[in-house]
Amino acid sequence: MNLEQEKEIAAKEAVKLLRDNMIVGLGTGSSSFYAIREIAKLVSNGLKIKAVPTSNKTKELAEALNIPLIDINLINSIDITIDGADEFTSDLILIKGGGGALLREKIVASLTKQEIIIADSSKEVKQIGKFKVPIEVIPFASNYALNQIKILNGIGKIRMTGDTPFKTDQANNIIDADFGLISDPASLSKKLNEINGIVGHGIFIGLTSKVIMGKGDSTVIFD
Ligand code: 5RP
Repeated sequence: MNLEQEKEIAAKEAVKLLRDNMIVGLGTGSSSFYAIREIAKLVSNGLKIKAVPTSNKTKELAEALNIPLIDINLINSIDITIDGADEFTSDLILIKGGGGALLREKIVASLTKQEIIIADSSKEVKQIGKFKVPIEVIPFASNYALNQIKILNGIGKIRMTGDTPFKTDQANNIIDADFGLISDPASLSKKLNEINGIVGHGIFIGLTSKVIMGKGDSTVIFD
């Protein structure tokens, strides 16, 4: 089994949790792609859901696959969200944002009753931080934020697409910050939240109900 197959197995397991009339958050990234494809099949077979995408890319995919969408500002909660992660620990601390959608993903997760993370087995870590923490910053504050990250002993770099800064769906920049292995993710999360101009970061704590990890041809659950 390769990692792509593990993502697909995890995605298929996660969509079994969907029920009629649920509001469903749709994640962003390659693992989420498998879930969205499965959800589209269920919808075409009569499952009645309304979905909230976590990025413009996911919105386009959901529309192309005829998954009914609902405006996030018309709802007060989301029943279940299926999303991916870049790293996770067994106590459900995550790094997300490799695809740059961390801000909407965090907002959707915050509204969600059952946040299900799907992952291949390469994403499980003892301590987060090998994957650089994606941090969304308004362009005006980019240099300020880089300097503040340095004060927190991080080495930040603006994410680029070729010669130009990568732009999020909010037209912001992403700083990928290396803090080494993070011994106190809650403290770092709080300190990053306090930096003016940073609108979100990829450390997710207390937002996840369950991780479904593909491992070989089966799944392992962390909850
Ligand atoms: C996007 C994310 C993704 O969930 C994360 O990067 C994992 O992606 P993939 O499933 O492609 O490995 O946080 O912002």
